[in-house]
Amino acid sequence: MGYTLTILGCGVMGQAILSAIYRAPKAADAATAALYPSHIIACNHDDASVQQVVDLVAGMGASPNGITVDVTHSHNGEAVSQAEVVLLATKPYLAEMVLGGVRKEIEGKLLMSIVAGWTIDQLQGYTKTVSRIMTNTPAKYGYGCAVVSHSAETAPAQRLLVKELIDQVGKCIELPERNMDAATSLVGSGPAFVLLMLESMAEAGIKMGIPFKESLECASKVMEGTVKMVELSGQHPTVLKHQVCTPGGTTIAGLCTMEDRGVKSGIIAGLQEAADVAAKLGQKK
Ligand SMILES: NC(=O)c1ccc[n+]([C@@H]2O[C@H](COP(=O)([O-])OP(=O)(O)OC[C@H]3O[C@@H](n4cnc5c(N)ncnc54)[C@H](OP(=O)(O)O)[C@@H]3O)[C@@H](O)[C@H]2O)c1
Repeated sequence: MGYTLTILGCGVMGQAILSAIYRAPKAADAATAALYPSHIIACNHDDASVQQVVDLVAGMGASPNGITVDVTHSHNGEAVSQAEVVLLATKPYLAEMVLGGVRKEIEGKLLMSIVAGWTIDQLQGYTKTVSRIMTNTPAKYGYGCAVVSHSAETAPAQRLLVKELIDQVGKCIELPERNMDAATSLVGSGPAFVLLMLESMAEAGIKMGIPFKESLECASKVMEGTVKMVELSGQHPTVLKHQVCTPGGTTIAGLCTMEDRGVKSGIIAGLQEAADVAAKLGQKK
């Protein structure tokens, strides 16, 4: 009954994914319940990093789907041998050493990897069924985005399992692997780019005399509300933007000044640059 998911490297992102899966609402039917592990083994580096995960799990109460968690260190091979599914979430520079250490045990298993720059081809050196995932830090709060690409050998049932688990971090979007460098920029680095915009708007409020707390509240709510408006209206951002532009009014004046300063082309060039760096990181291995 159920299966075991082993997480290799349970730090910031590993813990975010573990909590999302652990806290997922009770599955509506038996078919969905079968997509969840009954047991998770989180493998970390030392006693201190193990304790972090133990505390995290203790703070979450019981799992709605009855998932149990064990946390260990220095037993990666043993933990992978007990698993049907493995999530690799170490830092990229440790991935080769960690995967090399479980080479025998991981073969034939479904490997989900969130390690930046590690391609499906490279991961297939260890097992043929691979799902490569790029996610982001809002996953910690259930508002993450994840782009997923699967190896050709990954069966439809395995793809369904990955989607159900990774959807728990926020939203899981399937794309071909050729889009992964762009996703690394748009999704992985994206929060930093949005935070730059948020910070700029909040500081503009301060410059114009609004206290920091209220300025940040206003800027944050404007961002949240605008995104909701795009989602709920289904309209193109340009259409919604023009609805706010009164002829001769304030918004068009602000937009023209931003365009003069190259805000839009700066954002596009910044995202392209991040994707180019992601592509180079992948080539280094
Ligand atoms: N953070 C982000 O915004 C982000 C976004 C998208 C993707 N990613 C990807 O997610 C991956 C993890 O990033 P992160 O920020 O979560 O890193 P992290 O916090 O450093 O987590 C990695 C974990 O692996 C543990 N570890 C080290 N050696 C190990 C070993 N031999 N066996 C098992 N566990 C071991 C570390 O323990 P110690 O701390 O004790 O060394 C740590 O708990 C990276 O590959 C990154 O590319 C991160």
